[in-house]
Amino acid sequence: MSKICVIGTGYVGLVTGTCFADLGNQVTCLDLDPQRINNLLNGQMPIYEPGLEQLVKQNVQAKRLHFTTDYKKALEGIEYAFIAVGTPSGVDGEADLQYVKSSAESIADLVDWPILVINKSTVPVGTGDWVADVIRRRRGDRPLQFSVISNPEFLREGSAINDFMNPDRVVLGSEDRAAADHVAALYQTLRCTIMITDLRTAEMIKYASNAFLATRISFINEIGNMCEELGADVREVALGMGYDKRIGHTYLDAGLGWGGSCFPKDVKALEHMAVLHGTQPQLLQAVMEINRNQRRRAVMKLRKALGSLNEKTIGLLGLSFKPNTDDIRDAPALEIIHLLTNEGAHIRAYDPQAMANAAKVLKNVKLCENPYQVAEGADALLLATEWNEFKQIDFGRVKKLLRQPVILDGRNLWDSEQLKAMGFTYIGIGRGNGK
Ligand code: UGA
Repeated sequence: MSKICVIGTGYVGLVTGTCFADLGNQVTCLDLDPQRINNLLNGQMPIYEPGLEQLVKQNVQAKRLHFTTDYKKALEGIEYAFIAVGTPSGVDGEADLQYVKSSAESIADLVDWPILVINKSTVPVGTGDWVADVIRRRRGDRPLQFSVISNPEFLREGSAINDFMNPDRVVLGSEDRAAADHVAALYQTLRCTIMITDLRTAEMIKYASNAFLATRISFINEIGNMCEELGADVREVALGMGYDKRIGHTYLDAGLGWGGSCFPKDVKALEHMAVLHGTQPQLLQAVMEINRNQRRRAVMKLRKALGSLNEKTIGLLGLSFKPNTDDIRDAPALEIIHLLTNEGAHIRAYDPQAMANAAKVLKNVKLCENPYQVAEGADALLLATEWNEFKQIDFGRVKKLLRQPVILDGRNLWDSEQLKAMGFTYIGIGRGNGK
């Protein structure tokens, strides 16, 4: 059993802390937001993540998982301090490190014993060294025995617990091999590949992984756009490509493009780092541009199908950036709503989990209680997020409710043949062969 403090109770911090507690460690999660900690103490999760609430409950009951706003309490006697605070995008796309800095300063102020400082937040290459410098400077002539280790996370929202417990790999970067080995011991029980590198390489592995996955998606979306013009079907193209073991099947689903709190921020931050250091990130720039266009293309398709968007009503199914999360950060649906509204369209929308978050930012949207209410009087239905509950919709009922039977399936979820046979105008993504 090890004593761990996790600073930050966002996605990464809360899942990491809870899973380490579940593996038998003593974990205290710290957040400076009293409301958030209060809710957690009462069993209320700040995010929707399948399985999380139950796991938090179990580990709180077992007295392995604790929550506090008090740094002193959180850091007391710990061996491992995980920094898992937010690193929002600054004006130029650079990662804003103010929360990382204040976490490092608090550690420097309150710890007086050997400690391992592990960075889980996604931070620019070189930040590990900078954190060490922040701590050293803050201590001045009171040296502290510590090491900084970069331990990037590869959790996906919606399957974060499973991703933590069954990782493809754990990456640890440090200039201090013994320190990295010590952190590796925390993960040993997961029986996965543990890769130890230098600090900067570990930081780069995180950015390169997210940028590569985003690149695959933009690639297949570009191919999909060509398929639409050339009479091919992108779904089968992706399938055929994926059978090649060198390529594989994942992250090749054409759709409305990637969103969320990670890919957009990380690709932008990597591009910013590249420009700042004099290299030309042309591929990353294209990857982002293709992604922006993918959202605009959806609007274009609707405009083409309906003649004009002015005073038309569009029903949107799905607001979260992907299924199984209530996260709407940089969700394609939100930008599409913005573009549609700019052209005079009225929006009705529903999402199985993201309604509370959506209500905070979508002021001119009629938020509905189910897909059928969305369809009522709409000139077209746009599927933006492929939630399971949208798979088995009663299209007979939907058709009666719609003003015009137009469907834009932004995630290629539905059976186009069946919908066409029912009299719908069906538009998919990258489906140029009429199927
Ligand atoms: C992503 C990475 O997958 C994680 O490994 C990483 O830890 C995380 O970012 C992070 O940096 O914190 P996440 O943002 O939860 O995880 O979402 P993904 O499941 O990777 O999906 C990202 C976006 O790509 C979604 O909008 C999704 O709809 C889209 N996508 C995904 C596609 O359009 N096509 C695909 O084939 C796959």
